[in-house]
Amino acid sequence: MSKIDFSGRVAAITGAGGGLGRIHALELARLGARVVVNDMGGARDGLGGDQSAADMVVQEIREAGGQAVASYDNVATVEGGATIVKTAIESFGKLDILVNNAGILRDKSFAKMEDAQWDAVIAVHLRGTYCVTRPAFVHMKEQGYGRIVMTTSSSGLFGSFGQANYGAAKTAMIGLTNVINLEGAKYGIKANLIAPTAATRMTEDIMPPEIFAKLKPECVTPAVLYLCSEDCQDAGMIINAAGGYYSRSAIVTGPGAALGDGTSVPTPEEIRDNWQRITALEPFKLFSQGAEILGELGPLLL
Ligand code: NAI
Repeated sequence: MSKIDFSGRVAAITGAGGGLGRIHALELARLGARVVVNDMGGARDGLGGDQSAADMVVQEIREAGGQAVASYDNVATVEGGATIVKTAIESFGKLDILVNNAGILRDKSFAKMEDAQWDAVIAVHLRGTYCVTRPAFVHMKEQGYGRIVMTTSSSGLFGSFGQANYGAAKTAMIGLTNVINLEGAKYGIKANLIAPTAATRMTEDIMPPEIFAKLKPECVTPAVLYLCSEDCQDAGMIINAAGGYYSRSAIVTGPGAALGDGTSVPTPEEIRDNWQRITALEPFKLFSQGAEILGELGPLLL
């Protein structure tokens, strides 16, 4: 079997000054990619900034014989996103791979959530993903090739107490990914999502120590590397990765129930009385775009 190799490829990884992003960057570089290591170097809540976070990872890559440049840009601004992409193009001539990984936490139960906590988390995770991905996508479209990995979270996919802001932002990335894949398909662009669980500063006080010790961030990176590779021909996959366990999550649609004959409006009682059929998931379908839901109406459209 051929080896996955990134020789000749250029990658940008946001939030790569520590945690998961650092390992993604080190591994992409080890496998031949030239890498933009982006990180503002702030605290877990996003406050502060320190260029040494990105600089140290660049140094690690160079000492191991790889090629890397640092970016200290804030992903949450249009200028920051544009500069990250420009840094790749000016330093290495192009951008083939983008890993949207930068993230912060400002946890609070929903009733007590302050607007600033909501806005800050949405800004880094959702707006940040937009700000970097848009210029990257434009460039990838022109060159006819691109791999984009979004970092989503089980907190959004399934819920996590106290993380309404974070969960909302993380799940919004799925919608963005779906649309990018429709618009980028004929240009060789494929976007997928990783939902990691790993021992980093983000989770150090959340997980029990014995579990924390087992969730090596190094185990998440191989899934990211595959999604970044030319070998990966899938798009829109949501891959859970935790300590050597990998699985797929998906938004699926059940067979549903057609009520009435298409001319009358069903009553709320009919919804209640058919609730089991409406909510059953088996056998489920995967749609590849929103309009496909209309195909399910079948006889109601005749
Ligand atoms: P981390 O806190 O070690 O890494 C996040 C990095 O993003 C930091 O180095 C930080 O300086 C950087 N960053 C934050 N805001 C930035 C901005 N505006 N511009 C540029 N850089 C910025 O945490 P970890 O765990 O490595 O997180 C990486 C990603 O994985 C995040 O998106 C996180 O939400 C996600 N994630 C992590 C999980 C885990 O179990 N560790 C679980 C689910 C998702």
